[in-house]
Amino acid sequence: MRADMQFLHRNVPAKNARGKVFVVIDVLRATTTIIEALSNGCTEVIPVATVDEAFDQEKKSVQEETLIGGERGGLKVDGFDLGNSPREYTRYVVSGKRVIMTTTNGTNAFQKVAGYEFVLVGGFTNAHAVVQRCMALKADPVMVPAGLRGGFSLEDVVCGGMMLDLLEKRGVALTDGARAACILYKAFHRDLPEMARNSEHGRELIQLGYEEDLDFCLRTNVSSLVPVYKKGSIKLD
Ligand code: MLT
Repeated sequence: MRADMQFLHRNVPAKNARGKVFVVIDVLRATTTIIEALSNGCTEVIPVATVDEAFDQEKKSVQEETLIGGERGGLKVDGFDLGNSPREYTRYVVSGKRVIMTTTNGTNAFQKVAGYEFVLVGGFTNAHAVVQRCMALKADPVMVPAGLRGGFSLEDVVCGGMMLDLLEKRGVALTDGARAACILYKAFHRDLPEMARNSEHGRELIQLGYEEDLDFCLRTNVSSLVPVYKKGSIKLD
């Protein structure tokens, strides 16, 4: 096995996905929110690219109760049921319901890997479980950070670096990009919440009043669940 880090999701190859498992990471906050929602009994999360698409999908849904969630500029969109704070996605709110979600960065990263056979949803909260799943699949892991407005995001790469460090300890070979992400993880691992508070996205969220989300999203290995993205839907399998 050989593990890789794609620092920008636009560089994820459109082909040659055979034998690979892609791990989409948006620590602040989309993938942490998805992990939290599914942990609290949400039946599935449907990531979509635009706000209009989210409203259209909601109109079309006839089965179980559907909520729309996500953000633009970090804030809940007018007419949505939920924003993008993982702390909103409690059992009381999401249990037994589907969530259609659109966010600025995270849901775009899912579009990039749509159609691939193995796509996992990762964050600090389930990092260890993601690594175990990659090992069980015996496929080559590729970390896909959601980034910030198409650019680099420190907290996503450091989270991927944590997973890659665990993979290397299990005998998985690393590409140079993966090794660079591990080095970043080791530089920050003693105080991950502080790393996030100083990141561009972390500072934006603090300004918007979401500092508590940072501590929530930076908890490590509190979930053993690994959501899987397949055919446009994210579920626990
Ligand atoms: C995103 O996907 O763009 C982020 O999760 C934005 C946010 O922190 O709400």
